[in-house]
Parts: sequence; structure tokens; C-alpha cells
Amino acid sequence: MCFSPWLLSKTIRQLLGREEQYAKIKSQISDFIRKIIESKLTKGSEAPPLPEDKNIFLNLATDLMNRGIFTTQDVQNESSTIVFGAFETTANTVAYTLILLAMFPEYQEKAFEEIRTLFPNTGDFEVTYGDTQNMTYMDLILNESMRVLTPVPIVARQTMQDVRLSNGIVLPKGVQIGIDIFHLHRDKNIWGENAETFDPEHFLPHHMQDKHPYSFIPFTKGIRNCIGWRYALLSSKITLAKLLRNYKFSTSFKFEDLDFVEDITLKLRKVPLLEVQKR
Ligand code: HEM
Repeated sequence: MCFSPWLLSKTIRQLLGREEQYAKIKSQISDFIRKIIESKLTKGSEAPPLPEDKNIFLNLATDLMNRGIFTTQDVQNESSTIVFGAFETTANTVAYTLILLAMFPEYQEKAFEEIRTLFPNTGDFEVTYGDTQNMTYMDLILNESMRVLTPVPIVARQTMQDVRLSNGIVLPKGVQIGIDIFHLHRDKNIWGENAETFDPEHFLPHHMQDKHPYSFIPFTKGIRNCIGWRYALLSSKITLAKLLRNYKFSTSFKFEDLDFVEDITLKLRKVPLLEVQKR
């Protein structure tokens, strides 16, 4: 798919009557982020001080600011990118996985058995990095969830030169292209006859070994892929382990009735209601 950047511009938001709401929400989020930065940087603030670790994003950004390489606005912009990139994608991944497990209770039970073995007690429990590596069935579930309900359905690129695809088609220099992850993940030629349903077995090693490495790209690949993908998988796994250990989720909503809204992140026209029962 090729498209033009003006579709995402202020003009189109004005034409759709959404500019006012857009500006209001953007400023609320910017204020929220500015307060986090200020509270972390202000000595004596109520927020706990940051450890002296260069790998912590805010330390790196403020170090660049102190050396005159970043302005305060740069720190705010870079922080906004991280928050925008991290927040809705991860929240939706967890929510959509719960919805899918409620629709497919047999897979929820398998996930529950794995989690119960690792964490025998209900309530709040610590999950170590080692525990996350032992949640192998949860890996299948998370991957399959991000395949059928991919959190970012489309990403864009601009061609810097003519690009010849493997099928011979040439994309001319200077066009914007959309990479349709949603349909790639549901392509029957890649995923087989039941590509359009939720089946964690799609990710068993013997099903994956012959697949092209770019058949599954929820975080995309290459030099502009998601910088938070490892963190996203870890935080989703920990959240799901805690929820699934303590609660059972069910719904009468059918997978076939899910309907999608075109957007930057995947949205459901009608969000299924879940029944939550304590384990
Ligand atoms: C399940 C959760 C997530 C999904 C599915 C996801 C997916 C993506 C995708 C598809 C892109 C676009 C890459 C491209 O254009 O090729 C992206 C970019 C990005 N993501 Fe994520 N993401 C997730 C979580 C996170 C988290 C937790 C963070 C930060 C802690 C994060 C930070 C970013 C940033 C900063 C970019 C922009 C990278 C760049 O333009 O170079 N994401 N993400």
C-alpha cells in the first residue's frame, strides 16, 4: 500500500473536526510526561531518586541535556516517544490476550497449569527473569495473540531509492509505503488454513522452522524496529502470569464477531465484556 503523508496532517484532522480534541489530549499527555521528568530531576521531590545507571533512559537524556547536546524540549520529546510507543501497545497486548484466552478456555487452562506449577500460591508473588524464561507455553500464547490481533497493524516507510521486490515489482524512490502487518499475520499461504483463528500451536518449533523470518513482525525488524520489544514481552508476561494465576476469564463474545477499526494501533469496534472469577 502506498499513501501520502498529508493524510496524517493537521489539515485532515481539521477537516474531520478532530483537531481540537487532538490538541487537548496531546497537551494533557505532554503535561503528564513533563511532571514525571520534573519529579525525577528535582532534588527533594517525593519520587525516589534514579540510580546512577547510564542505561536508564532519563539519565541518558538528562546527561545529554547537561552537556548541551539536548534541550529540555528534546528530553520531553524523546520521553514522549517512549511513552507513546510503550503504553497503549503493551496495555492492548495484555487486554487482547485476556480476551482471546476468555474466548478459548482450553488454552487458558493450559496457560494456567504452567503458571500454577511455577507459582503455587495465589495473591501477589515475585516473578524473576528466570521464571519468565520458564513460561514457555505463555510464549506461544503471547506470540499467537500478537499474530491474530497484532497491536500495530501497519507501519510506514519512505523509499530513499528505487526498491525492487522479490516478485519483480519496483517501488519508485520517494514514495511512502505502508507495511500491512495485520494481513501478513493472517495470510493463509504463510500460516495455513486456520490462519484466521487463534491457535497457539502455530508457534510450535516444527511449525515455525520453515517460515520466513519476516512472517511474524509485531515489532517489525531491521534498524527501526521497536526498541522496547524485550521489555514489552517481559512486562506482558509478568502481568498475564499474575492475572491468570489469580483469576479465570470468560466471555460469551465469539472470536468470529471481532471487528476492527483502522487506526495506528489495533482497535476493536466493540470490546468484548469479560467475566472475572477468583481462582
Ligand atoms: C507489545 C508491545 C509493543 C509493540 C507491539 C510495539 C510495536 C512497535 C512497532 C511496530 C514499532 C514501529 C517500528 C517500525 O516502524 O518499524 C515500534 C516502535 C517503537 N517502539 Fe514499540 N512496541 C511495543 C512496546 C514498546 C515499549 C514497551 C517501548 C518502550 C519502552 C516501545 C518503544 C518504541 C519506540 C521508541 C519506537 C520507535 C523506534 C524508532 O522509530 O526508531 N515500544 N514499536
